[in-house]
Amino acid sequence: MLTLFAVALSASCVFADDASGVTNIFKPNGAPAHAIVDYTMLVLAVCAVIFVIVVALLVYTVVRFRQRRGDKDHEPPQVYGSNQIELAWTVIPILIVFVLTLVTARSIAEVQNAAPPSKALNVTVVGHQWWWEIRYPDQGVVTANELHVPVSDPDHRTPTFLKLESADVAHSFWVPQLAGKTDVIPNRDNLMWIEPTTPGTFLGNCAEYCGTQHARMLIRVIVHPTGEFEKWVTSQQSNAVNEIQVKAGHDIFFSTSCVNCHTINGTESRGKFGPDLTHLMSRETLGSGAAPNTPEKLRAWVRDPQSLKQGCYMPDMQLTDEQEDELVRYLLTLN
Ligand code: CUA
Repeated sequence: MLTLFAVALSASCVFADDASGVTNIFKPNGAPAHAIVDYTMLVLAVCAVIFVIVVALLVYTVVRFRQRRGDKDHEPPQVYGSNQIELAWTVIPILIVFVLTLVTARSIAEVQNAAPPSKALNVTVVGHQWWWEIRYPDQGVVTANELHVPVSDPDHRTPTFLKLESADVAHSFWVPQLAGKTDVIPNRDNLMWIEPTTPGTFLGNCAEYCGTQHARMLIRVIVHPTGEFEKWVTSQQSNAVNEIQVKAGHDIFFSTSCVNCHTINGTESRGKFGPDLTHLMSRETLGSGAAPNTPEKLRAWVRDPQSLKQGCYMPDMQLTDEQEDELVRYLLTLN
């Protein structure tokens, strides 16, 4: 049953391209996820014991007291009430509920009251229909859909504390291997934290129905090995370059509505409605996991975003084939 549940869970999170991580709550990576799995296993074990006892008693009763040949003419003796049995089925469940309440309170406190150590990373995650804006206020970095964090080792803990905000409707941030889900609510700051101890890519999804493309509001958490995260930050802090090389594409970007919605650092483009494109090509996917970020898919996206992510708020810009080629060549320099 456990395996079935895990399989169903991972199957429910199918991603647009191949994923190195598995979305499996039973493979925790880091403190909050471990606390949740430990708690889940305890509850499952308690429930399993109750299930086995109830089914065993039921089967025993059905077999032992079944109607036999020759029983037809008279009813078996009817027994009403038993103080001992009634006491047992009242007291034992109360004790079980009491124990589960204590363990629940302890697990919640363990996750919720964790104080950030001095080297904790602070990140603000903003849910949009249907993508994630990811801001590193202390580093001056803004990206989208991919949360990059350092691995945490027990001697030099570097957990990541997330402040969750919404730009529109309610979303929910959930990366099953790293932590429980936390709702992302408009006009409210919700807090959560992750502390992955193994590097790799971990997948998640918006876990609160938020409109047409709720299913394509995927999250990738990239946990960098020690020392690598700083390199990533440095690469993201640089401005976009190479405008001159692809002037035609650059001019198309700046003469259409692209500039109204997107930011490219180091240029006039300061739009806030869509994802920051300064380092677009450093990302693995387009449209929050709708497609892998390849030149072909990027061109398809520019031609008509609706073909890859129907209902998304980026319009078809009605460019000619030539203009699309030039624009894509410009976008490909944003790495
Ligand atoms: Cu955002 Cu569902």
